[in-house]
Amino acid sequence: MGKIKIGIIGGTGLSDPDILKEGKEKQVSTPFGEPSDALVVGKISGVECVLLARHGKKHTVMPTNINYRANIWALKEEGCTHVVVTTACGSLREEYKPGDLVFPDQFIDRTTKRVSTFYDGKEGSPAGICHMPMHEPYCRHVREILGEVAKELNVSHHSSGTNVVVEGPRFSSKAESKMFQMWGGDIINMTAVPEVVLANEAGLCYAAIAMVTDYDCWRDDHEPVSVESVMAIFKSNVENVKKLLLAVIPRIAAKEWDDIIEQRQAATTSNTMQHGT
Ligand code: ADE
Repeated sequence: MGKIKIGIIGGTGLSDPDILKEGKEKQVSTPFGEPSDALVVGKISGVECVLLARHGKKHTVMPTNINYRANIWALKEEGCTHVVVTTACGSLREEYKPGDLVFPDQFIDRTTKRVSTFYDGKEGSPAGICHMPMHEPYCRHVREILGEVAKELNVSHHSSGTNVVVEGPRFSSKAESKMFQMWGGDIINMTAVPEVVLANEAGLCYAAIAMVTDYDCWRDDHEPVSVESVMAIFKSNVENVKKLLLAVIPRIAAKEWDDIIEQRQAATTSNTMQHGT
């Protein structure tokens, strides 16, 4: 069984997770620039892990300005085979309640200002043009483990969901929120794309733990989303996210991944057109 290493990208409310005891900070640079902050390398339950705060440890990087390419590249360079991320999200469905955890399986991309490929034809970037299939953006195997463990821990969760990803930094208008519902969106956030897309290009098994913090603004009987409500709900439920992460890591490590990882890497190669081919 090959060695696995798990990258953990902590989102809003989990920027400086203390789950990695005695982690060592490691400042790295990539062909795409600097990641959001220093990596923190160490072990959780004996499994090698690398932590990265998506918005920086002091939460200074807004969604549009996150260097998603540098973040994913840095984790790949560090030897990660898996990436498990946390994020706050709004809910577009009554049954996805504030405090619930969601393991999304699909996204709808409404971002407009982000580079979503490593294969940009520039010097120093990987060669070729990559057209990654995106019918199943999130790793089904990691999602399955997340669902099993959440059930065992009795944490209120949804084992699938379509995540609408908006550019931000503003929240949506009521008309947009209702349109996203009609499109089939279940949850909404500002960071899933291009993070998940780049993880696919990098051949990483990627899954997300999204915590519902609000009902966005489509409900007439609820206060519309605000930073205050997002932070309050996240804070009061963050222990569930930490508990789940800690329990999931050894379970990921116990699975045989060699064939899955090989298939992922082969998918990147076979979907990258090289000059003259
Ligand atoms: N993150 C948390 N809640 C959100 C919302 N309603 N819209 C976009 N991103 C969010």
